[in-house]
Amino acid sequence: MTNKTSIQGSWASRWIFILAATGSAVGLGNIWKFPYITGENGGGAFVLVYLACILLVGIPIMMAEVFIGRRARKNPINALSDVAEESDSSKKWGLIGVMGMLSGVLIFSFYSVVGGWVLHYIKAMLTGEMNGISSDNAGAAFGALLADPATLLGWHTLFSIMTVMVVAAGINKGIETATRIMMPALFALLIILLGYAMTTDSFAQGWNFMFEFDFGKLTWNATLIALGHSFFTLSLGMGTIMAYGSYMTKDASIGKTVLAIGALDTLVALVAGLAIFPIIFSNGMDPAAGPGLMFISLPVAFGQMPFGQLFGVLFFVLVGVAAWTSAISLLEPTVAFLVERFKLKRVTASIGLGIVVWGLGIACLGSFSFMSDVTLFGKNTFDFLDYITANIMLPLGGILIALFAGWIVKDKFAKDELAVSDTVYKLWNFSMKFTAPIAVAVVLYFLINPMK
Ligand code: TRP
Repeated sequence: MTNKTSIQGSWASRWIFILAATGSAVGLGNIWKFPYITGENGGGAFVLVYLACILLVGIPIMMAEVFIGRRARKNPINALSDVAEESDSSKKWGLIGVMGMLSGVLIFSFYSVVGGWVLHYIKAMLTGEMNGISSDNAGAAFGALLADPATLLGWHTLFSIMTVMVVAAGINKGIETATRIMMPALFALLIILLGYAMTTDSFAQGWNFMFEFDFGKLTWNATLIALGHSFFTLSLGMGTIMAYGSYMTKDASIGKTVLAIGALDTLVALVAGLAIFPIIFSNGMDPAAGPGLMFISLPVAFGQMPFGQLFGVLFFVLVGVAAWTSAISLLEPTVAFLVERFKLKRVTASIGLGIVVWGLGIACLGSFSFMSDVTLFGKNTFDFLDYITANIMLPLGGILIALFAGWIVKDKFAKDELAVSDTVYKLWNFSMKFTAPIAVAVVLYFLINPMK
């Protein structure tokens, strides 16, 4: 193990690292996407496959990201090239970090737009304008929001400013403080909502939907979606976890820490599902409603239930907090790089990068109105950026990180840094060399060439 520390600072404790990484992992992917893809793919069996993917592919890749970051104590580009050099290999491995930072910038631009939708829904819930809304009207309200670039711009700008402020304040004052306040709030809100869902008559139905494993319902395509999502939900493949790992104290065990992060992320996704499905079922709505599940169906459900407005506000605040702590982590690797490579002040780097991603975000929010005619490969800007990052760049980054950790990094360095038992090390190493790259390559192939 090395004794260096990052010039950015380091986390106050192992638990802060766990919470910060969990804050990154838990986001729109867990609360918005996981329930709707579970709904679309029939529930139980899909959930089981997702859990297997987290354990067999996600956790090992996360271990690799953390140890590379912590060994070098630098931003992902320099971390990868330093660790490569130490193992007598080419510094060009740092290019994985370049692609990662680009992914972060591109993901942020549409993530912030969705974050803006969430802020809009917090306001709509607070003012009570959604009380008693019918599903037709809720659909129309969501459509009207998308078609209104001025409103979207306001929310996107606010979300971007909120995020840049935290990143600019630095590891300890910014990310750590935000984490200390927001993560407990997030867990508390989830428990309250779960408690509410448990009081509905449909809790058992929601539970069975998620945990009754009927393999007859599982399709090959659903398996691929589960694997791809397990990857996205853990924030892997772009250097986020590597950057967070570079601020980790050297005494903490990587294996246990990563298991805790994976477990918390999974728990939040499962609890989000258990909070949402009973509400959907008790209002006779369709679990397979797709991406609109959260923004259209849920306001309808909240509009009908007792204290629905209160729970509606709580729910969207929860999603907003989750999206916020994830958005921070999308910018952090690039800000660290700008500071370390060009000796910029953190504030300057954060604001500069903030302006770039904010500008790109405008192209994304315009996808639903003034830029709806602009298409790349038949997709509008928003869908295109979502597609190339989540389906191509992140999995590619993940394969490369796995291959790098498995084949390039010398065993003695990996063993020293991971400090796990021989058996665990062998399992991890096998996953890096074979399981993870092959599994992700298969997903990548079929996401690019969907099966009919
Ligand atoms: N994991 C977050 C979510 O589930 C999104 C996210 C944040 C992310 N940082 C990332 C995804 C880095 C991939 C890479 O919403």
